[in-house]
Amino acid sequence: MKNNQLVKIAQKLGTPIYIYNANTIKQKCKELKQNLKGINLYYACKANSNPEIIKIVYKEGFGIETVSPGEIAIAHKAGVPISKITFTCGSIDKNEIISVAKQGIRIHLDSLNQVEIFGKHFKGREVSVRLNLMVGAGHHSHVITGGPDSKFGIDISQIKELKKLAHKYNLHVTGLHQHIGSNVLNAGTFLKGVKAMFDTAILFPELNHLDFGGGFGVPYRPEEKPFDVKKFAVDMKKQIENFNKKYGKRIRISFEPGRYLVAESGSLLVKLTDIKYNPTKTFVGVNSGMNHLIRPAIYDSYHEIINISNPSGKKIKVTIAGNICESGDVFAKDRIITKPKIGDILEIKNTGAYGYAMSSEYNSRPKPKEFLMMGDKIKRI
Ligand SMILES: Cc1ncc(COP(=O)(O)O)c(C=O)c1O
Repeated sequence: MKNNQLVKIAQKLGTPIYIYNANTIKQKCKELKQNLKGINLYYACKANSNPEIIKIVYKEGFGIETVSPGEIAIAHKAGVPISKITFTCGSIDKNEIISVAKQGIRIHLDSLNQVEIFGKHFKGREVSVRLNLMVGAGHHSHVITGGPDSKFGIDISQIKELKKLAHKYNLHVTGLHQHIGSNVLNAGTFLKGVKAMFDTAILFPELNHLDFGGGFGVPYRPEEKPFDVKKFAVDMKKQIENFNKKYGKRIRISFEPGRYLVAESGSLLVKLTDIKYNPTKTFVGVNSGMNHLIRPAIYDSYHEIINISNPSGKKIKVTIAGNICESGDVFAKDRIITKPKIGDILEIKNTGAYGYAMSSEYNSRPKPKEFLMMGDKIKRI
């Protein structure tokens, strides 16, 4: 979106607001579909669970991966049939496991305890399990989900116990799942996880399905290179063919990306409300904060920020802070932007994933409104 177009939108609709571009989401969906032909794709809707976003991705041919009964309800209400929904979650109780499984949703069980519960209630059924194969990656330790420190999945050392449990309840392990972490930019790292999964899958003779999770990254910093989907797809195809040969049959392969599909479609538009020229730092205050976009505060994440009211002005170094009562409520430290004045609109870019979805009303400030841009039309979503 052009700067002056966005400023007009902010002036008309008010700030702070999230604005998403439907075309960007469709384009990202198409890019994955074209490169990963023959692979089942699910959208991890935790990244952005707005029903209108789910509808766009579903229409592009994706299923929906969910992590809570709430997400199942949103996806279902958005028109996604149960057969196109999967469920992956740790630390859930017996009632949740039974209720999700009874709906016929494929659930990737996360622990031996969950397998035991499932076995007691659904003897003789097919089952899919999430494994921790000790490969982890991601932009921050909080989102690395494989390896000895990860709370997710059944540890690789417990495969014998898993098989014993499956035998006890006559369960057929027909699916394996892994998710190594989030915002992985290096295709080679991702492929290490893929290899670990194929090496382990050989030990399970009844498989019909392998799910490799999400995690494809997007470049947030100017120096970062995009995830090379084309190269990844070529290497992935080779690994699939090798596995199918060894295994003796073709099995279904899935991915469940979240961020990759929606991050770059979204911007958070905020208004500059205050400036402090302190002796060592210039603080720029805005009418939003960590309650609307928590990624910088909890992951030290970088988001490009542009003063779209004055995009070609003189550049100065500023720290861009929110209106929440915590020192950690900072969107960017010592960032060079074009000279701001009170009332200017700032665009915080690449906020379509884990932006609104992780927002709260902390400090009793309302969440921002969300808008969707479709060509030259904009609607509240
Ligand atoms: C099981 C699972 N699948 C998929 C995803 C989506 O990850 P990303 O948005 O990095 O693609 C996550 C993220 O936490 C996850 O936990």
